[in-house]
Amino acid sequence: MRKELIVAIDGPSGAGKSTLSKALARKIGYINIDTGAMYRSVALLADRQRVNVADEKALRQLCSNLRIEFVRDAEQERVIVNGEDVSMAIRTPEVSLLTTKVAASRVVREAMVDLQRRMGQSGGVVLEGRDIGTVVFPQAEVKFFLSATVEERGRRRYDELLARGMAVDLQQTIIEIKARDAADSAREHGPLRRADDAADIDSTKLTIDEVLAEMLKIIAERRQAFSE
Ligand code: DC
Repeated sequence: MRKELIVAIDGPSGAGKSTLSKALARKIGYINIDTGAMYRSVALLADRQRVNVADEKALRQLCSNLRIEFVRDAEQERVIVNGEDVSMAIRTPEVSLLTTKVAASRVVREAMVDLQRRMGQSGGVVLEGRDIGTVVFPQAEVKFFLSATVEERGRRRYDELLARGMAVDLQQTIIEIKARDAADSAREHGPLRRADDAADIDSTKLTIDEVLAEMLKIIAERRQAFSE
């Protein structure tokens, strides 16, 4: 019997999922699993190894050789793939673009969903992504669907890229976010979809602390019910 909860956070790009799932996991002592980083890592390797995203056999091979770890220290969380710290390399606009294609591949989704289930099955985890509450863990005890307007999400992503020293344009960033939303929602396998039993949180006008407080309230209630 599982003693701890599975917490799912889904929503579109730039809604605040990464920041909040990290903060939430730290606060309640859970492990944070950034599933977007997993798809990004597959895209990075596919790019480096010149694997065509239409080549299912090569993608399956690449996924089966993928060792991914999330390492948390006092300051930050790092993504280690096959022993290499790829935390920065997986966040470039080029990799983001390729990730949308890679994440639409059935073989990649099957491999990542399988890995995510193995990583999260014992509970005590916060998983963030697009299909956690619908496909990966439909039985999750807590599900959040985090959203914000596309303009606000574009502005946040723009600020984030700027802070990393990348040369970007705000309007272009909003256009890219819209394209990513459309691709994520329209794909056949594991599309971005709100689970019927998810709690909706619109972060457009809320601070991180306000969203966190809302999430903690819901989790405290579920934890109470879960342990009874
Ligand atoms: O959350 P993110 O921006 O790091 O996600 C990168 C890409 O991966 C984005 O195009 C959506 C996709 N993704 C997905 O298809 N399924 C997930 N569970 C997580 C991310």
